[in-house]
Amino acid sequence: MSHPDIFYRPMKGETSGLPHDLFKSFVIPRPIGWISTTSQDGKDNLAPFSQFMNVSFDPPTILFIGHQDLYKKRSRDTVMNCIETNEFVWNMATYDQREEVNNSGKETWEDEFEEFNIKKAKSRLVRPPRVADSPISFECRVHSIVRVANEYHGKNTAGPHMVGNSDIVIGRVLGIHVKGEYITGDGLFDVLKAAPIARLGYRQYTYLNNVFEMTIPSMPDEGKEVGAVLAGAMTYSPPDDGEEEEEEEEEEKSASH
Ligand SMILES: Cc1cc2nc3c(=O)[nH]c(=O)nc-3n(C[C@H](O)[C@H](O)[C@H](O)COP(=O)(O)O)c2cc1C
Repeated sequence: MSHPDIFYRPMKGETSGLPHDLFKSFVIPRPIGWISTTSQDGKDNLAPFSQFMNVSFDPPTILFIGHQDLYKKRSRDTVMNCIETNEFVWNMATYDQREEVNNSGKETWEDEFEEFNIKKAKSRLVRPPRVADSPISFECRVHSIVRVANEYHGKNTAGPHMVGNSDIVIGRVLGIHVKGEYITGDGLFDVLKAAPIARLGYRQYTYLNNVFEMTIPSMPDEGKEVGAVLAGAMTYSPPDDGEEEEEEEEEEKSASH
């Protein structure tokens, strides 16, 4: 016989009655934000965050979420570093790297790159290093940090309060590294070769091992351009800040000397 249907109100401290937290198993799969940062005094840090997502595509903007740290009784080192320095790097976490990803989730004051022998590569625009073996890395500048406190209409809510305070770190993507070996002959990103991992509930993970395609239905009068944007085929137009023209002028000047 199957289990009876469940309804419960977490804000009132009710639970599902099951032995393990169900909630984490529903918003899945959660891609891993494998985030590198550097403290103000120069110590590198690497940690996985499964609360990770795109915010916008143009300009590329991402977010990850750090809860309060039960051991250190404050925000995660990663978040502290973002507050101090305004910089972080996202690295794609692949199936081949699963042990390193998990290891780097250890609570420690040390540099996880060094502690777990994870190779660093220099970034170009920001100070934190990249994970050298990741297929993709984004160099990011912090846009804003939003605190979601464990309260509701000004009152403390039920639950273990410490982890209920979460920092949403939003970052603009300044530079994108893509390893050439992951670009297919058709110019697509080879997701099956990269096999990124993602978090489920409990101790469960998954990795990307299949892909199917669908086309979003379009409005009858939708122009070609809209369809192209939805399909991701549109190239980004450079912002009109005059920078490029200045660069071009500089290049022209130096070429003419
Ligand atoms: C796969 C995985 C996903 C995780 N996701 C998160 C998360 O989304 N948010 C969070 O606060 N901690 C998450 N953790 C725990 C942190 O990675 C861990 O507390 C780490 O020590 C934080 O490092 P830091 O203090 O150096 O920033 C995750 C751990 C693992 C292994």
